[in-house]
Amino acid sequence: MIDYTEKIPNNVDLGRDRVLQRALEHWQPAYMSWWYDAGPTESHNYEVYLRTAITVEPDGWAKFGYVRMPEYRWGIFLQPRSAERAVNFGTHKGDPAWQEVPGEYRSTLRRVIVTQGDTEPASVEQQRMLGMCCPSLYDLRNIFQVNVEEGRHLWAMVYLLHRYFGRDGREEAEALLERRSGDVDNPRILGAFNEPTPDWLAFYMFTFFTDRDGKFQLSALAESGFDPLARTCRFMLTEEAHHMFVGETGVSRILQRTCEVMREHKVETPGDVRALGVIDLETMQKYLNFHYSVTIDLFGSDASSNAATYYTTGLKGRYDETKIEDDHVLADEVYPVFEVVGNKIVEKKVPALTALNERLRDDYIHEIQAGVDRWNRVIENAGISFRLRLPHKGFHRAIGNFAGHFISPHGEVLTKEAWHNHERDWLPAPEDHVFVQSLMTGRVVEPGKFANWIAPPIRGINGQPLNFEYVRFN
Ligand SMILES: [Fe+2]
Ligand SMILES: [Fe+2]
Repeated sequence: MIDYTEKIPNNVDLGRDRVLQRALEHWQPAYMSWWYDAGPTESHNYEVYLRTAITVEPDGWAKFGYVRMPEYRWGIFLQPRSAERAVNFGTHKGDPAWQEVPGEYRSTLRRVIVTQGDTEPASVEQQRMLGMCCPSLYDLRNIFQVNVEEGRHLWAMVYLLHRYFGRDGREEAEALLERRSGDVDNPRILGAFNEPTPDWLAFYMFTFFTDRDGKFQLSALAESGFDPLARTCRFMLTEEAHHMFVGETGVSRILQRTCEVMREHKVETPGDVRALGVIDLETMQKYLNFHYSVTIDLFGSDASSNAATYYTTGLKGRYDETKIEDDHVLADEVYPVFEVVGNKIVEKKVPALTALNERLRDDYIHEIQAGVDRWNRVIENAGISFRLRLPHKGFHRAIGNFAGHFISPHGEVLTKEAWHNHERDWLPAPEDHVFVQSLMTGRVVEPGKFANWIAPPIRGINGQPLNFEYVRFN
């Protein structure tokens, strides 16, 4: 018999809970077969220089070292419990935080956890082929780091399902391994997690935009009155920061390389830029438009009674809930949302409780804008006048008040026909994908070497040099 408590690093006293241990003993082999089937392709014998979470102490929470990928120790960590923690919002505000699931919220809470949990394996599935065309060992190591941590996030959600939801929870945990990103019959729950991630530009955009949606969802769940969920999500956020770093710096390095080549060869038009084997800025803008628009859909409808319920029941808070100065009940508050009336976009005030998705989306957009500003500084520093910009919030939306409308990146309401006439100027067209794919022909695996279309990073991982052997192929 394998001692699963040994195999699963944890701070939840796994060895003491026989029922839980048996449930996880049952689930772990299923998880491993999911990893072999849907995890990074051909990686099973690689030794990768990875960080592994070993405690929740702020300094020294992780250790670095070579790990054969399937032997990664996916652990279960919760932020330590604080005895005074209370429910901080909604109708139960001021009650002690719940250590067990309140019976009346059981199915709602389970749905919240399953929806979050479903995104974690989905992104691993979306990225599984990218190792075959990595631009460097450094980048290959980073994608694997993101993948194993998304796997750990799945463990984190499955722990909650097994520990607190009995048989229903175990069934949900199985189903999390059965759905597949993009599968026609059994897809992942949320739209953006069924989109392909066909190339490294898409991967960096995904980790910048979509992992940051993860950050905002986790932050809202980290405010939950259900304490084990709050403590789980707090710790997941520690890891999430690196995923967004990979995305932001990845895009930034592509921009830097493109700008270098544009200056050196004094070229500007996309055709000339592409001919030199780097990605033109116009294509970068189209990828940005795509990833931004599908990601802001993930926040849900602008006006949502579910969002109101999650809040009033104390299950899901706002971003930085406890730092906001108001009554944390929101019964009399209003919040602005937008809707299309005729050919105009108009602001409308709605009850703040129903607008909580929109509010979280706005908090997210604010942070995204700051990242885009940092990208633009790379272009500006190269003396090039092009600027990336976020499209209007209503552009290319499939969920909420803008769904079914045809909004340009500048926020004009267009006819369907006029919009489609411009679609290839705004979103990656098949030939743009073909071009980016043409740069992803093989993998660059010589230590310290980088593909022509991306600049090296400023520094290596954990103080290691850039020419460190981040991945060993065996
Ligand atoms: Fe995650
Ligand atoms: Fe992530």
